[in-house]
Amino acid sequence: MSHDHRRMHEATWSRADALAVLDPPERRRTQNPARLWKRVGLRVGDVVVDVGAGSGFFTFPAAACVGTTGRVYAVDVSKELVELVRERAEEGKFGNVESILSTRTHIPLEDGLADVAILANVLHGIPPKTVDEAVRVLRSGGRLVDVDWKKEATPEGPPVRHRLDVSEATAVMAARGLVRVASFELGPLHYVLVFERPRPARLPGHLVSAE
Ligand SMILES: C[S@@+](CC[C@H](N)C(=O)[O-])C[C@H]1O[C@@H](n2cnc3c(N)ncnc32)[C@H](O)[C@@H]1O
Repeated sequence: MSHDHRRMHEATWSRADALAVLDPPERRRTQNPARLWKRVGLRVGDVVVDVGAGSGFFTFPAAACVGTTGRVYAVDVSKELVELVRERAEEGKFGNVESILSTRTHIPLEDGLADVAILANVLHGIPPKTVDEAVRVLRSGGRLVDVDWKKEATPEGPPVRHRLDVSEATAVMAARGLVRVASFELGPLHYVLVFERPRPARLPGHLVSAE
């Protein structure tokens, strides 16, 4: 295991880790973020919450898709990376990106504000409470996108025993009431699962109380 990916399992990443591991130019080929958002069908005006945003690898391409009427909240437990994304947003004039410091148990955003939440390369390393929080910020009918390493030996990435396979990741979301609506591959090493937070069932009119 490389020293870089041992850090994948620590709660926070430093700026130096992020720049070395999360931002190499070849990553854009193997985990093309623009391709991801196109497949997900992100729309102008959408609100996105990127949980464990790191250096903003998926944040900024999302911001380009949602435009000035949309918003992308880049959430991370690392103060250094929150600062890095804030600087990058300023430098790149991304007025629609807000960089937010979270804890492992709380994301300081209101319930149900997101059309789309993304957990990219984080589900295998975060506590259940962070997953609960990612679901909490999603509106009914909103979608949660999980990008993660395939559970197989690869030249890079976290140890295989720490990874979740597709059925394990699906079970994590099903336990929170989410329904899988799509799946596809992102390059040779990653899978993508898209889940929907169901809308509440509508009661027939005659069952709705007038009180
Ligand atoms: C492997 S990096 C992935 C970054 C980014 N999603 C990407 O794919 O480039 C994991 C990130 O999750 C953050 N992180 C770890 N635990 C977290 C938690 N409980 N809540 C929010 N962010 C967390 C780390 O600080 C780090 O920036």
